[in-house]
Order: sequence, then structure tokens, then C-alpha cells
Amino acid sequence: MIKVSCSPNDILFVVPVVFVVVKKISCGSRFMQQKSSSLKGHRIRSFVRRQGRLTAAQSFALEKYLPKFGLLASDGEFNFEKIYQRKAPTHLEIGFGNGQSVANMAAAHPENNYLGVEVHRPGVGNLLRLIHKQELTNVRVMTDDVFDVLQNNIIDNSLAAVYIYFPDPWHKRCHVKRRIINQEFVTMLAARMEMAGLLHMATDWKDYAWHMMKVMGDLPQFKNTAGEGAYSLRPEWRTLTKFEQRGHRLGHDVWDLMFTKI
Ligand SMILES: C[S@@+](CC[C@H](N)C(=O)[O-])C[C@H]1O[C@@H](n2cnc3c(N)ncnc32)[C@H](O)[C@@H]1O
Repeated sequence: MIKVSCSPNDILFVVPVVFVVVKKISCGSRFMQQKSSSLKGHRIRSFVRRQGRLTAAQSFALEKYLPKFGLLASDGEFNFEKIYQRKAPTHLEIGFGNGQSVANMAAAHPENNYLGVEVHRPGVGNLLRLIHKQELTNVRVMTDDVFDVLQNNIIDNSLAAVYIYFPDPWHKRCHVKRRIINQEFVTMLAARMEMAGLLHMATDWKDYAWHMMKVMGDLPQFKNTAGEGAYSLRPEWRTLTKFEQRGHRLGHDVWDLMFTKI
């Protein structure tokens, strides 16, 4: 049998080295996957598909109400007047989580149309459940990557407001590329929004708040409603979402950013 002797000094050296190597490999391998997928023409996604367990109520709602309130990516360019059967401002919530915020806004503003886009099926099931329970007629739901929806379904100058609350922060340096708020994405949003339309974002990650402000500040299509470089006060009407509550539990502050298209 071979015996390896190790002094305390060796351990002091080896442990940090192993830690750094393991970290590099874990970030590096994911980076390589992203790089190779972008070489194949795929873009880096802002989410990781989680299966998530569906409750019986969510499963029932998906089966029963998605055919009624769901819109399909394969439907081509959307004509909102036809979809909602009326002429009204259309508001989009991106990554609505469990859907409480979009349901509350839709209930408070029956005069507006709402479209929620979320890839996490349990959340979609929950929103469908709320739509049915609250008898909301002004909400439609999509289960697709919003990037594809904006590219293929939503026409230019057609959104009166866009809400993005507590997007995944992707706070590790090697994951920052996955952040949904980036120049390319917001430029596409600007094109789909009506003149004077509102883009409202909120995050509990200081570094992401700063990043959002930088991206927005560099885009001439938007004006900060709070003044250049300033964060907005949290509007009372914004629903306290699950992820905002999580931020509070972690002791995080929250930053709101409100811009209008000019
Ligand atoms: C951190 S959660 C926040 C959920 C909710 N807004 C809240 O405040 O509780 C971010 C959500 O965005 C969704 N998401 C991320 N990228 C998306 C994309 N490209 N298209 C649609 N949904 C996306 C995720 O599935 C996730 O549910």
C-alpha cells in the first residue's frame, strides 16, 4: 500500500487550488456549452428549463384553460384587436412567475389587455387558475421564450406597457451573459412598444439594478421618468411578488426603473 504524507502547509496550499480549479471547471464547462450552442446559431437563453412539480390545481388549469386563454407562437403576427375582441392598450408582463402581479393588474384595469409570457409551467398553470377564479377576460398567456414571441408574434408599436419584475439575476460573473436585460433585447422591446409606452423593471440585486440603468441610459429610444440615472419610487400598485419577498428575506433592497419610449 502507498502512503501519502501531507503536512498542514500542503493542505493550506492544496485546498484553495482545488477550490479555484473546480469553480473554473464548473463555469468554464457551462460557458463552453453556451459558446458551442451560439456557434450552432442558438442564442444564450435567459432561463434554464426547470421541470418543477405541478400541483393538481395547476395541472387541471393548464389542461382546461390553456386552450381558452393561451396564445400560440405558431399563430404568427398577433392582431390584438382580434385576439381581445376590442381596441384597448395591451400590456405585457415578461417572466410573470406565479402570475399574481399580472392577475392583479388585469383585475384593477379591466380597460387594458394583458399578455403574460412565462416558460415555467407551474407558474403558467397558477396564472390560468387565477384567471378562471377571478373571471378575468382581459388576460392571455404564452408559455414560450419571450425572445421568440417578440421576434415572431408581436408587431412594432403595439405594446402600451412592458413589466419585467425580478428577472433572474444571473449574478455569477460567468452567467452575466444570460441576463434578459441587455442592449439587444431592450432594443427589440423598444421597437415593439408604442410611443410614450412604459417599461417598468424591478430587481433586488444592486449589481443588476446598476446594469439595467447602464443599458437603458445608453439607449436613445427611452427617457427615465425619474430623471437621468435615478431610480423610481416603488409604486404602491406594484404587487409584492414571490421573488421580491425572497429578496426582503435575504435583506436586499429593491430598485425600480421606469422608462418611457420617446
Ligand atoms: C426570478 S423569476 C421572477 C418571477 C416573478 N416576476 C416574481 O417577481 O416573482 C424570473 C422568471 O422569468 C422567467 N423567464 C426567464 N427568462 C424568460 C424568457 N426568456 N421568456 C419567458 N420567461 C422567462 C423564469 O421562468 C422565471 O419564472
